[in-house]
Amino acid sequence: MNIKKVLVVGCGQMGHGIAQVCATGGAQVFMYDVSKANAERGLAKIKDSLTRSVEKGKLDAAKAKAIGDRLSLVDSYEAAQGVDLCIEAAIENIDVKRKIATDLDAIMAPNVILATTTSALPITEVTNKTKHPERTIGTHFHHPPVVMRLVEIVNGYYTKPEVTKAVIEFLAGAGKVPVPCKDYPGFVSSRIGIQMINEGIHTLYEGVSSPENIDAACEHGFNWPMGPLRLADLIGLETILVILDDLAAKMGPRFLPSPLLRQMVAAGRLGQKAGKGFYEYASKR
Ligand SMILES: NC(=O)c1ccc[n+]([C@@H]2O[C@H](COP(=O)([O-])OP(=O)(O)OC[C@H]3O[C@@H](n4cnc5c(N)ncnc54)[C@H](O)[C@@H]3O)[C@@H](O)[C@H]2O)c1
Repeated sequence: MNIKKVLVVGCGQMGHGIAQVCATGGAQVFMYDVSKANAERGLAKIKDSLTRSVEKGKLDAAKAKAIGDRLSLVDSYEAAQGVDLCIEAAIENIDVKRKIATDLDAIMAPNVILATTTSALPITEVTNKTKHPERTIGTHFHHPPVVMRLVEIVNGYYTKPEVTKAVIEFLAGAGKVPVPCKDYPGFVSSRIGIQMINEGIHTLYEGVSSPENIDAACEHGFNWPMGPLRLADLIGLETILVILDDLAAKMGPRFLPSPLLRQMVAAGRLGQKAGKGFYEYASKR
């Protein structure tokens, strides 16, 4: 199974980066978002990123143009003709993801692979209303997808080995490091990473130190490229809250979110994309 054409559904923080990764890997990529403005913003961000890479001498101008030419927006799934792979990167909400999976399943030929970019929701539950769950899989990219090399490849209960193999080969060809795992709450990286972020927020909530110092302790003490609070702002606090609530329900109280996280989400301090989270940002992303 050779993946040459991809549809990305949801072009927010993750989706537009995933589209760029796929186009860089040589695929023709269609981008769809329920919000046309978000789709257009996503494509504009990719073009900006390519221009910056050329200016910095990291990417050849002809290659950047070729990558840009492989990307286009569509306003329906039907308009994405002949795709081999659909990657959903919509919000972390099981009902939204399930609806996208069933809608794509109804439209796309049975050999088209359907991937979801959930951070922690079970692939088997997201896809259990599809007629062909054997062609579904999880592709847990990390943020920002263009920079971060890991993609967890989550095998649902029914995922066929050929589907796993095709997705691993495609993403490895696009420069990523695909790591397979079972469909278990939080997979590998979310269950471990989310605990570190939650502990950082608890540390702040308990008044142990300031956001800057908590981050500095982890960055310099553990050689993390980014401390837990800066990382939380980058990911988006509402996404972190959804993941923790889901993992707490399934895996027990050790995943209960810090009360401060819930309060910050209620207050609209969602992180970089809102212009404010644990830190203030000059402009919204
Ligand atoms: N942000 C991160 O650091 C990160 C990391 C790994 C995985 N993820 C996962 O990736 C997914 C996307 O997260 P994000 O941070 O890009 O969110 P985001 O809010 O930035 O983007 C989500 C996009 O999905 C679109 N959307 C919503 N409903 C839709 C629908 N029915 N059809 C098509 N588009 C729809 C929205 O308009 C928006 O543009 C989530 O499942 C999240 O858990 C996020």
